[in-house]
Amino acid sequence: MIIAPSVLSMDYSRMEEQIRELNASGAEWIHFDVMDGHFVPNLTFGPDILKGFAKASPLFLDVHLMVEDPAFFAPVFIKAGAGNVTFHYEAVKDPQRIRDLADLIHQSGASAGISIKPGTPVSVLDDYLELFDLFLIMSVEPGFGGQKFIPESAERIRELKQKLDQRGCMAHIEVDGGINAETAVTASGAGADILVAGSFFFKQEMKEAVKQLAG
Ligand code: DX5
Ligand code: ZN
Repeated sequence: MIIAPSVLSMDYSRMEEQIRELNASGAEWIHFDVMDGHFVPNLTFGPDILKGFAKASPLFLDVHLMVEDPAFFAPVFIKAGAGNVTFHYEAVKDPQRIRDLADLIHQSGASAGISIKPGTPVSVLDDYLELFDLFLIMSVEPGFGGQKFIPESAERIRELKQKLDQRGCMAHIEVDGGINAETAVTASGAGADILVAGSFFFKQEMKEAVKQLAG
């Protein structure tokens, strides 16, 4: 189980201290939510902030692009230090553009992920199961931390896991939104192997949060 704390919930008045605690917490990844104010009604970080995290942390940088133009931003964030870039199916949709973007991310030196919002059927991913290293199932509407896990997400994870297994794909299943000690058990039981946690992680001692999430 990979724990990926979302720095969207970090206390930005104590960044240095928080990154130090995060580095020692046992989490393996940092989840970095990029929002452009168009794809979702919120604005977050640009590539220079990611460069700062890359400098201050040895952890793997997992970039979640909630932007309308992921083809423009993917290479920018890879250059800034992203190890994985995940974009939204809903932002691209066109099959050829989805394939081109997966190629572009791989050629730029990162692993590639694709994400679906809670209202998008899992079946839209059917043609791309071999193409991506990671599938991100959103368990809340993207845009803000601190929301409640949508219970139907467990079934969606199970459905995707079954499809990946049937095709012999080893890709990661990541879940993002409303993850706490309880929903972590639900999500991992359904087949997720990467847990993103924002508010649950940063509201307590980080080592303890990792312990509780990893089960
Ligand atoms: C929501 C973001 C999440 C968010 C999760 O759009 O993609 O990564 O930070 O926050 P919590 O864990 O508080 O639901
Ligand atoms: Zn996210």
